Amino acid sequence: MTDGLIAELQKLVERAYAPYSGFRVAAILEDADGKQATGVNVENASYGLTSCAERNAVFQFVANGLQKPAVLYLYAETQKHTAPCGACRQVLFEFDPDLNIVLVNQAGETRRTTIRELVPMAFGPKDLEEGV
Ligand code: THU
Repeated sequence: MTDGLIAELQKLVERAYAPYSGFRVAAILEDADGKQATGVNVENASYGLTSCAERNAVFQFVANGLQKPAVLYLYAETQKHTAPCGACRQVLFEFDPDLNIVLVNQAGETRRTTIRELVPMAFGPKDLEEGV
């Protein structure tokens, strides 16, 4: 994880639209060649329609024509590391069960995990193969 990438996340988080929670999140999803998609959280006056940074990054990744994510960098302006919510974990698992995740806090300190670790016994595309 480079200082440049941390600076990129800190710049990206400024674009978050979080007027209700004030909790801003930025995500960069990278493939093995370093090609990137980005996402920030986008809230709504109808609170339940809020969309997390991670899922927005996944959707941009697909729309950019990228195929297989290799690493997700997730930044929140918190002292503790912020991990993806349950819904985002499921969406991230879909595209790579071996996805690496790097959590970055406000101080730029990193903590590494994987989507497998965050979603044990996940339901995914392979499970559909048996049932039809
Ligand atoms: N949020 C994210 O974007 N990603 C996470 O991993 C946790 C939560 C957003 C949703 C909402 O806009 C705000 O953070 C507070 O929940």
